Amino acid sequence: MSSLWLDTSPAIPADPFEPDGEYDVAVVGAGLTGLTTALLLARAGMRVCVLEARSVGAVTTGNTTGKVSLLQGTVLSEVRRYSSDRVLSAYVDANAAGRGWLLDFLDTTGVPYDVRGAVTYATTEDGARRLDAEEDAARSAGLPVHRGGRSELPFPVADVLSLPGQAQVHPMLVLAALATELRSHGGRIVEGERVTGVSAAHPAVLTSISGRTRADAVILASGTPILDRGLYFAKLEPERSYIAAFRVPGPIPRDMHLSADTPTRSLRTASDAEGELLLVGGNGHPAGRAPSPAECVADLTTWTEEWFPGAERVGWWAAQDYRSVNRVPFVGWLPRGRGRVYLATGYGKWGMTNAVAAALSLAADLTGGEPEWARVLHHRVTKPIDLADGVRANAAVGAAAVREWAAAETGPELGADAPGEGDGVVGRRGRAPVAVSTVDGTTCALSAVCTHLGGVVRWNDAELSWDCPLHGSRFAPDGSVLEGPATEPLGHAPDA
Ligand SMILES: Cc1cc2nc3c(=O)[nH]c(=O)nc-3n(C[C@H](O)[C@H](O)[C@H](O)COP(=O)(O)OP(=O)(O)OC[C@H]3O[C@@H](n4cnc5c(N)ncnc54)[C@H](O)[C@@H]3O)c2cc1C
Ligand code: FES
Repeated sequence: MSSLWLDTSPAIPADPFEPDGEYDVAVVGAGLTGLTTALLLARAGMRVCVLEARSVGAVTTGNTTGKVSLLQGTVLSEVRRYSSDRVLSAYVDANAAGRGWLLDFLDTTGVPYDVRGAVTYATTEDGARRLDAEEDAARSAGLPVHRGGRSELPFPVADVLSLPGQAQVHPMLVLAALATELRSHGGRIVEGERVTGVSAAHPAVLTSISGRTRADAVILASGTPILDRGLYFAKLEPERSYIAAFRVPGPIPRDMHLSADTPTRSLRTASDAEGELLLVGGNGHPAGRAPSPAECVADLTTWTEEWFPGAERVGWWAAQDYRSVNRVPFVGWLPRGRGRVYLATGYGKWGMTNAVAAALSLAADLTGGEPEWARVLHHRVTKPIDLADGVRANAAVGAAAVREWAAAETGPELGADAPGEGDGVVGRRGRAPVAVSTVDGTTCALSAVCTHLGGVVRWNDAELSWDCPLHGSRFAPDGSVLEGPATEPLGHAPDA
């Protein structure tokens, strides 16, 4: 269940924690955002320390699909739906800058990548209409997209929109190269160091499990921000999706494909020691809200076996990314961070370019020379349509909260029997919601109440984790935090 990328990652050395260390900048999180920002600042001569809760790439970047593309499914028309053409052009310019920087960096450091066309395809008339809007948005932002032509896909396709000359990467090779260069500029990367609090004093003080770190500026590159200032967790939708790797006896499409229709299907090639693989992604849903993630994986597998006869699944994994209401990432100062705490999030599954753009923008904030696209993207006004969508998203969060609490409070009192291997159940002890699971023969009983803001967690039957349906925090069977805005583990269950 580990990703192809993490399984084939080079070793990435880490540094010991320095108690009471003092830096110019402390970066929280060692994914693509954190390491790129840290490297840009270290190159500018700053003393930089990256504090990573788990290991480099462990969360989204190490589990991505890894397409580096300016044609992003139907995102451009969605950006245009919420914003002006000026914002759309700035979004495309930001992504072009991100792609340009990343591919230059890979060329310079000798990291291999594949140049491939990106294709958004439609299988229905509705999908084809979405391609119309996407083509229009792409052309208005100056992208040389092509409409129509033959499809390489083995099933009927109504229409395609394509953009040649994009790329696909092995994301852990990217992170390994960033980490090596960061350390060569004196930057530090500390793993297993979860930050639990940041005070925006001067200097700012970060509290993490081994002690304190002081820094003039703090970058939250933690996926969703871990601090609740600015309520960003409520402005972001966490969406979890699945990716499966297949060995296929027949031909594999060369281009990187993404469906305009739902359920989403995302295809690219990759390779392991035994040869070429087809990666198929899709079946996304708000994190913690799918009745059975295992069925999402099974459905992806059945679909691939149907269209690529003889396909043999050799692995699968899952990840989540955060989508802003108006599809443009949040990058810049965190409110009430006294200008010392910055964040970058909300890439909506297009972080290979957006994370690098965010890093370029944050580095410019700290060292000067803000690009024009950053000026436009960082000074947006919330429009009524954003608010309407935000209200819808929060209504869904509220409904999930009520549903899970009601189910926990009115559900059965937990009995003495342990769940079967790989199972988890939420029940109650008295009035307290309790989560009990059995994994690898160990039964753990925990409080089922998420330590972020009190959602009731749900069992994820594919990844064997407790997932919160509110803002996407996820916990291991022993309660430790895996990802999301929570920083504290699930508590102990009250005694039976
Ligand atoms: C299924 C899927 C497919 C995708 N495919 C593509 C694609 O093809 N192309 C594309 O452009 N984008 C894609 N994306 C999006 C892209 O992968 C992400 O946007 C990007 O990797 C996010 O990088 P990040 O550094 O912001 O986050 P992450 O990689 O998640 O890094 C954040 C890090 O912060 C750490 N952290 C969190 N909290 C703390 C804390 N309290 N203390 C210390 N550390 C902490 C985490 O452990 C983590 O390592 C995809 C996303 C998903 C989910
Ligand atoms: S993630 Fe916010 S309440 Fe659980």
